[in-house]
Amino acid sequence: MKIVIIDCDVGVDDALALILAFHSSALEVKAVTGVNGNVPLDRVFENIQKVLSLLQPTNKPIIARGASSPLKGKAIHAHSVHGRTGLGEAKIELKDGEEWWTLSGGPAWELITSIAHQHPQQVTLIAVGPLTNLALGIQKDLDGMKHLKEIVIMGGAVRTRGNVTPHAEFNIYSDPVAAKMVFESGIPMTLVPLDVTHRVFLTPSLMEERVKPIGNTFSKFLMEATGYDTKARRFRNRETVFLHDPLAVGVVIDPTLVKNETLCLTVETDEGEHWGKLIEGKEGSQINVSLGVDAERFLELFVSRLR
Ligand code: RIB
Ligand code: CA
Repeated sequence: MKIVIIDCDVGVDDALALILAFHSSALEVKAVTGVNGNVPLDRVFENIQKVLSLLQPTNKPIIARGASSPLKGKAIHAHSVHGRTGLGEAKIELKDGEEWWTLSGGPAWELITSIAHQHPQQVTLIAVGPLTNLALGIQKDLDGMKHLKEIVIMGGAVRTRGNVTPHAEFNIYSDPVAAKMVFESGIPMTLVPLDVTHRVFLTPSLMEERVKPIGNTFSKFLMEATGYDTKARRFRNRETVFLHDPLAVGVVIDPTLVKNETLCLTVETDEGEHWGKLIEGKEGSQINVSLGVDAERFLELFVSRLR
């Protein structure tokens, strides 16, 4: 059993990553922390609570709010992908008094470092949003962050095109100064970039043949959150839905799903065309990067955990 913390900006694929994590007996999700990203922080935090109320975990995680804006630059969002609420077209009502979480007294970075102090070298931090909370932890309690066993990050575009600009991926582009601090921290980390997450995606035929027949709360949530129209056999506003964040969780559940290489990477933090670009070269930090993925075996794992 691996002890994990998930730092996220709940959007649709973050929500799917939480479902995969909480439905995997190999993981004990001790905490879920929110950061500004796909939608503003308040909405992220409300979405964390909504997904937990869907999951109704036996062991309630501790939840904490994190940064509402990046260390440098303005807060950006991705409503066009995740919808106004951040959960696509899924509607989840929070019931008064029903709390499937324990509320932390402090900010996200403090919850992360305190759990790392309590369980030295045993906690894996899965970061699937911008890295602002991690950078704040490094600034305020580097010793605590260094007690983390590993950080697994969904982010970056290494040898492929970005998804915000041609050079940069959303999580890194949202706060490249934070990403640079995390990369340079020396904490053991694995980067799960678009190079592999663009190879794991939902298609209409997968929805019809493998998701819809499950017919439970989670398959229904997945169809609504992704805006899947079963009559038209298509997703409302796109051809496919990438499983970026679920793959980062998948890598922690089963590291054999990916093939990693150690690359020397730095982050472009100068304003301009290359803002948030990951640069491979002699400068920079040694980062373990997933460049190959067994996409079919991951999709099998993901769909199986909807049950
Ligand atoms: O680029 C994909 C990443 O940006 C995912 O984490 C998605 O949720 C968005 O945060
Ligand atoms: Ca995310």
